[in-house]
Amino acid sequence: MVESVVSVENLQIKFDVSVPLLSRLLKRKPKTYVHAVRGVDFSIKKGETFSLVGESGCGKSTVAKLLSGLHKPSDGSVVFKGHDLVSLSRSKLKEVRRGFQMIFQDPYASLNPRWKVADIIGEPIDLFGLADSKQHKQAMVIELLHQVGLSGEDRLKYPHEFSGGQRQRISIARALASKPEFLICDEPTSALDVSVQAQVLNIMSELQEKLGLTYLFISHDMSVVSHFSDRVGIMYLGRLVEVGEVADIFNSPKHPYTKMLMEAIPSMDEINKERTPVSGEVPSPLNPPSGCAFHPRCPNATHACASESPVLRDLGERSVACLNV
Ligand SMILES: Nc1ncnc2c1ncn2[C@@H]1O[C@H](COP(=O)(O)OP(=O)(O)OP(=O)(O)O)[C@@H](O)[C@H]1O
Ligand SMILES: [Mg+2]
Repeated sequence: MVESVVSVENLQIKFDVSVPLLSRLLKRKPKTYVHAVRGVDFSIKKGETFSLVGESGCGKSTVAKLLSGLHKPSDGSVVFKGHDLVSLSRSKLKEVRRGFQMIFQDPYASLNPRWKVADIIGEPIDLFGLADSKQHKQAMVIELLHQVGLSGEDRLKYPHEFSGGQRQRISIARALASKPEFLICDEPTSALDVSVQAQVLNIMSELQEKLGLTYLFISHDMSVVSHFSDRVGIMYLGRLVEVGEVADIFNSPKHPYTKMLMEAIPSMDEINKERTPVSGEVPSPLNPPSGCAFHPRCPNATHACASESPVLRDLGERSVACLNV
């Protein structure tokens, strides 16, 4: 059996979005919370790409941040190679954190504009004490730049001297500098042109194969997800509603929400086919619907769906959270 690199169990986070204390007391308002992630379970095997899909605000980035340690879960666990990250000491966490890195959507915002590329990529090398000497560090930076298709000389430039695609390559090189096994990629190509997207995705695929990387991949683009992933998790209002192999999910979706997302994808084979746009709006996470959160938009909803919250059930090859599947 292939070991899982990362697994999350009953992952939850509530954000306190209450108005300031004084106005709350004056207006006699209770505290308000956004329950952004509400009991998410999944595990990702070594060398696998697991993608999270769902409409804006469903909690994809929040899951990514919980995994990378940028948020602390309100409940549940994140286990990375056998270590429960929530209960690790600071020093142990630093050591374990070397094994995973994050790539963000906007490479310009995530690269320090005042630093040369050599310093940007060199920082994690210093932080984790990975080089024996200056020469060794420089050789490592050059090797990393080559790995992402840039030249060694590029280390002497600043981020603004590169195109968007090249900047994202620099982000990838920086992420790889600490020799991680697991990369959390939150919309890594969404800010790029289609042709540049393909180049960056190809580099990510090549690196995955060469270095045996494991990816958590988040994207709005279903065609990118279908090409790039091994397994997919569909999220709705902070919960996973369907998880399975990419081909199963795309060819025979079972959850009504997954079906709705799939019917909205344009297809080259069926140019004249009428697409059904995704209908309805995502309800506010401040005041989610009772029972199954999807029931107000669901064409198959029954009375039970308004009161009973479905759990993710294991149906063999995939898991589905729907009372009617
Ligand atoms: N720091 C925060 N404080 C309060 N609420 C937050 C915070 N971060 C996220 N949220 C809320 O949590 C929910 C999930 O947000 P998240 O950014 O994870 O969505 P997403 O699926 O990544 O959306 P998108 O596709 O637009 O990137 C949203 O309702 C958002 O407003
Ligand atoms: Mg997001």
